Amino acid sequence: TPSTPLVIAIDGPSGSGKSSVSKRVATRLGLAYLDTGAMYRAATWWCLERGVPLDDADAVAAEVAALPLVMGVDPQAPTVHVGGVDVAEAIRDTRISTAVSAVATNLAVRAELVRLQRAAIAAQGLPDSFSGGRGVLAEGRDITTVVAPDADARILLTASEDARLARRALDVHGTADAAAMLATRDQVLRRDADDSTVVQFHVAADGVVTVDSSDLDLEQTVQAVLDVVATVTGRA
Ligand code: DC
Repeated sequence: TPSTPLVIAIDGPSGSGKSSVSKRVATRLGLAYLDTGAMYRAATWWCLERGVPLDDADAVAAEVAALPLVMGVDPQAPTVHVGGVDVAEAIRDTRISTAVSAVATNLAVRAELVRLQRAAIAAQGLPDSFSGGRGVLAEGRDITTVVAPDADARILLTASEDARLARRALDVHGTADAAAMLATRDQVLRRDADDSTVVQFHVAADGVVTVDSSDLDLEQTVQAVLDVVATVTGRA
């Protein structure tokens, strides 16, 4: 008998290792991978491209209501296209990282992107989807609480502030020395503080299992997440 589609929800702050861990876990389990942060970044890129002032909440909401977004959900090669343009690299730019909170804290934008995210998750239950109906791993800030509170496994991936800053410094500067840590500090902490005004992702909600990756390497964190999934779902 075919099993029902599996839905895994993973939330966490910047630098928790969420994306690297999520892509590997999805690959191991044969699931689709939905990077919801990339959707907020893509919405931001589109608004800037269209010359919409990000502090004009109504104008931004109107733009996002018609966002021509296509998310590719292969965890080994995720893609993001807006209006037919491949924006995978552009949305990682500092220009987007510093602007994205203005869009992610717009409640009308959140309502629209949550709607798209739920549709993308539901689509992976279909046999002709990328996962062939096996299901999806979605990661972000409000997946365990808002987007998919009824997911089969819900995980909050945390790490100490030092560990998170070191990982982000390595990502952005290629080193985690004191200067690089300081350079990333403001950006990472300010963005998390801004985002925390509309979504809560520092404390696990009821029924959400916390995995602390501070003292784990990537492979150990992947294994810890797979262990939680196996325990709470009784499969995988
Ligand atoms: O995970 P990330 O850095 O790519 O996320 C980009 C931004 O989008 C970040 O400011 C947090 C926000 N975000 C959100 O508010 N809700 C989500 N589900 C995912 C990301």
